[in-house]
Amino acid sequence: MNDAVFLQIKKEYDNFYRELMRKGKLPMWSTSKGFWNASISDEVYEVFKRIDLHQFNNFLDIGSGDGKVVLMAALFCQSAEGVEIDEFLHNKAVEFKNKFNIKNAIFHNKDFFEHDFSKYDILFSTPDAPLERGLENKLLKEMKGKLIHYGHHFRPKFLKKEDSFLVNGSLVSLYTK
Ligand SMILES: C[S@@+](CC[C@H](N)C(=O)[O-])C[C@H]1O[C@@H](n2cnc3c(N)ncnc32)[C@H](O)[C@@H]1O
Repeated sequence: MNDAVFLQIKKEYDNFYRELMRKGKLPMWSTSKGFWNASISDEVYEVFKRIDLHQFNNFLDIGSGDGKVVLMAALFCQSAEGVEIDEFLHNKAVEFKNKFNIKNAIFHNKDFFEHDFSKYDILFSTPDAPLERGLENKLLKEMKGKLIHYGHHFRPKFLKKEDSFLVNGSLVSLYTK
């Protein structure tokens, strides 16, 4: 069941990226607080299966972009939320949520520094800036559960690394406080 919905999500998002490219735009751009580029659907789904995301209840994607990661997490967790500064990307996320009728996904259009992280037991980040610019301090203060860090760049310095593995060449690490 999950696999079928995942394939549908992947397909629709791929169409969205193709549509952007047809208009001469790459699916990546600067936003007012950072830089958007979408994670790779197959890799993220693989990560969620590998860490058994089912065991967590409340998921948050810190800088959720077009919402794809949140919609995929909603297939595993009781609730999956995302916080994103860019209004266009936020609206896209809501559009896809409604299209797939994924009721346990929630999107917030705001600065993630103004969002309380303490109610989530699993956080996800593909950071677009060094964490020492403030995000790691916020995590150290508010994080209650674990952080999935996706990518080779901008790794935490003070959180504790629990596990680390490669998915199709991309580095994924799990951190706690
Ligand atoms: C590298 S993209 C990751 C998108 C998504 N998580 C994914 O994996 O496909 C990082 C996102 O974080 C957002 N972002 C950066 N700083 C932010 C902030 N302070 N508040 C909210 N969103 C922010 C950017 O606008 C961008 O969309």
